[in-house]
Amino acid sequence: MVKILGIESTAHTFGIGIFDSFTNKILANTKSFYKPLKEGIVPKKAADFHIQNASKTILEALQQANLTIRDIDYLAYSAGPGMGPCLQIGAIVSEFLARKYDKKIIPVNHPHAHVEITKYETGFFDPLILYVSGGNTQILIEKEKLKFIVMGETLDIGLGNLFDMFARALGKEFGHGSVVAALAQKGKNFYEMPYTVKGMNFSFSGLYTYATKMIGKVPEEDLCYSLLEVAFDELCEATERALMLTRKKQIIVCGGVAQNKELIKKLALMASEHEAEAKTCQDQYNADNGAMIAVCASKLLEYKIEPEQVFYDQKWRIDQLDKYYKIK
Ligand code: FE2
Repeated sequence: MVKILGIESTAHTFGIGIFDSFTNKILANTKSFYKPLKEGIVPKKAADFHIQNASKTILEALQQANLTIRDIDYLAYSAGPGMGPCLQIGAIVSEFLARKYDKKIIPVNHPHAHVEITKYETGFFDPLILYVSGGNTQILIEKEKLKFIVMGETLDIGLGNLFDMFARALGKEFGHGSVVAALAQKGKNFYEMPYTVKGMNFSFSGLYTYATKMIGKVPEEDLCYSLLEVAFDELCEATERALMLTRKKQIIVCGGVAQNKELIKKLALMASEHEAEAKTCQDQYNADNGAMIAVCASKLLEYKIEPEQVFYDQKWRIDQLDKYYKIK
């Protein structure tokens, strides 16, 4: 019977999740969210926020699960990719708790955690994966155990970053993609914008530049609606190509931007034309969270991956899990 406490701290969120691998249940998922105003995330400020909220968030999770720290068997943390000062907090907090209470530590790759919790929630076991978050936008498959292949990815900025940057370009106090998504829902007219797909790769910076030049010329609701439509269509085209190539019947969409219902609708429609299905998980597990770190750590234990060292790596890609794990 193994209980894992997962710590997420790659960017905005300091999240704690508790997973019981014996009952296969998430027992707790709590978080503190750093909300920068009139600026992007300043890593040092986010890290200060995380350390100030760490013990409160951990205690809330333990309370939710009706456990004490002594009932926990493993501490897992997000080891990358992410912002250096933020990653450091997760690593330090888990090492402190592990040493103080004599527990083992499992470093987890953040995108891998998004994939695993979405597989856990959807029940899809061999999916084509569309990973859409702030800094990352990738089409992936898991070719064999823990060996992910990137079929396609953004050639410049991540999809979430596109939306965050555009919210700031519009002068919004909270420069977050959710603000753009809310405005897009009120949009009525579509405006053509640059559309860049190269095979299974795609690009968003031309779209961003064009859309920012349109600010003030057309209603911002229509601008946001058009921006989202074009960006999501790019993803659909690239994902469709990967689906036809891999002949998979399951697609999962995961990461922060997967909370957008329009994206899921488009992908589900495209999938249905190929007798496939596209699914995602609950919003609370698509946003960065600690539960996904704990669920992913349980998968690593199942594969007998138990790294000894504590580290963090700002650029640790999902297709480089073997950089830190001994994969047989
Ligand atoms: Fe994420």
